[in-house]
Amino acid sequence: MARNPGTPVQAGVGLRLQHLAEVAATRPAAAWLEVHPENFLANPHALELLHDIARDYPISVHSVGVSVGSIGGVDRRHLARVRELIDRLDPIMVSGHLAWSTHEGDYLNDLWPLPYDAESVALLADHINEVQDALARPYHLENPSSYLGFAHSTMTETTFLAELVRRTDCRLLCDISNVHVSAQNLGYDAFRYIDEFPAEAVGELHLGGFVAEDEDGPMPSRVLIDTHSRPIDENAWDLYAYALRRFGQTPTLIEWDNDLPDFATLAGEARRADRIAAEALEGVAHAVAV
Ligand SMILES: [Fe+2]
Repeated sequence: MARNPGTPVQAGVGLRLQHLAEVAATRPAAAWLEVHPENFLANPHALELLHDIARDYPISVHSVGVSVGSIGGVDRRHLARVRELIDRLDPIMVSGHLAWSTHEGDYLNDLWPLPYDAESVALLADHINEVQDALARPYHLENPSSYLGFAHSTMTETTFLAELVRRTDCRLLCDISNVHVSAQNLGYDAFRYIDEFPAEAVGELHLGGFVAEDEDGPMPSRVLIDTHSRPIDENAWDLYAYALRRFGQTPTLIEWDNDLPDFATLAGEARRADRIAAEALEGVAHAVAV
């Protein structure tokens, strides 16, 4: 596991705009906070509060707008704005998704998948290198939650991620809930996915809530949807404990974006992650050196 020096070992909490004023005013207990830069770049008041908060909490920056998977290339103006924010915040980590969310200059309010083939590897490697050069920091790339596979993918997601690490020396953010969601939706074994994940590159884990929806039609089925709107599912906690035994202690973030509860509920989920980590790692000499 490639933990950055100085990164807290306890779980952190995603800081959303709804909690910003409360956190600024009351400084609740939290080991670290992760923010989406896109929430702050056009909001000077929020940005001012964030800079104030950053004096008391380690901050991680998780971009949902740096679109490393876009065929048209990375949006350099957006990247420059993120760099400016990062230079002021000096975050403990910078991350984003294995996906594309811009097309011909338009932002799409979603994260879209890519086929896992040689062409995508080349495209993404170029863009990740560009992002890392522009930000002057390692970029943590997050595995997506998937609902459909591409028939013309030629490699598994874990092989694809390993190849990107080899070509760019980027780090990986393993979203445990995404692994469970994708494994259920696409019919593969989540534990085996963790076994095959490039453990030496893992720098962060995410845990978020999801919902199950029943799809009608000629072949009714149940689909898990990564809504970040609920407590962490018991299946995701089990997979988290399993992943920690393979990766070793890893900074973990509680992500909650929709139907947001009070901050104390998020902090409670972070404490549960810490308890599960302590139990999972008790007496475990994991194979991957920190
Ligand atoms: Fe995530």
